[in-house]
Amino acid sequence: MVSFISENFDLARAVEQDKQLINSHLENYLKVGQPKTLWKAMRYSTISCGKRLRAILSLESARICGGNPENVLPAACALEMLHAQSLIHDDLPCMDDDDFRRGKPSNHKVYGEAMAVLAGDALLAYAPQVIIEHTPDSVDKKVLFQLINEFLHAAGPGGIVGGQAVDIQSENKTIGTGEFDYIITRKTAELFKFALRAGALLSGASNEKLDVLTEYGKKIGYAFQIADDILDVEATLQELGKTPGKDSKAGKNTYVSFYGPDKAMRDLEDLTRSARELLINNNINSSLLIGIADYITQKVKK
Ligand code: IPE
Ligand code: IPE
Ligand code: MG
Ligand code: MG
Ligand code: MG
Repeated sequence: MVSFISENFDLARAVEQDKQLINSHLENYLKVGQPKTLWKAMRYSTISCGKRLRAILSLESARICGGNPENVLPAACALEMLHAQSLIHDDLPCMDDDDFRRGKPSNHKVYGEAMAVLAGDALLAYAPQVIIEHTPDSVDKKVLFQLINEFLHAAGPGGIVGGQAVDIQSENKTIGTGEFDYIITRKTAELFKFALRAGALLSGASNEKLDVLTEYGKKIGYAFQIADDILDVEATLQELGKTPGKDSKAGKNTYVSFYGPDKAMRDLEDLTRSARELLINNNINSSLLIGIADYITQKVKK
């Protein structure tokens, strides 16, 4: 069984089932239309690739809140489209300039820079449309409105785009802790936060539960970027599916360059531990959420 969580068989099976559900819905939402090349470029970076970590978090959040994961699938797939868009643009020569993503040539290496920009643009615009058109009618329109607002926040200047802008502006510069924290929070943690909130909002969660899941999402999202920064230094192209060692070459402010490798590892462990404790202290009994927090720490130790 191919799963990013491999230690626990039941968990690996649950992840695999969610992945299949997400993949079949993505396939459905992303049928090739016109213009053909644009749709193919959109599909290239969205279909059959990636761990689907964020979408799985949305489905699990719904289950925890007693909701129906089916209601969340359009938002979960939109989340994967937004994530794919952020990766296509992140790899462009004018951004991080990486020729590889998920073990294959980056979008612009296959479709050219102009089409890669357009595929990203199209995914970004199409994703909220998927939420609007496919979320079941039974979902309250006020909830849907809030969901789309939060999605657009996570995507835009208050989310990924804002984080990416400061990330790029800060290359080869000394920045303060506030600015550094802003980069990680916006470019990565906001999307994880949204993943958890989407499942909870669509399942009528109590404010208390929504707050706990939001906090868990922020913590593991932040931890995820610390792990990614550590792996950029330590892992291989084969392990990562993307070019390692690029951060220091580009003069990026990463958790490793900013705080050093030892503190990076300590903070990663502290954050994922506190994410797990948060769940346990609030009686959220999800082996999947615990497993994902563990996975984020363990993947740097392999
Ligand atoms: C990569 O995210 C981008 C970062 C935030 C570091 P993932 O490692 O979740 O990417 P896929 O979707 O599994 O390829
Ligand atoms: C990830 O930042 C955040 C994105 C919005 C893509 P990175 O630049 O570190 O991601 P990778 O290492 O290229 O996947
Ligand atoms: Mg980047
Ligand atoms: Mg990058
Ligand atoms: Mg990285």
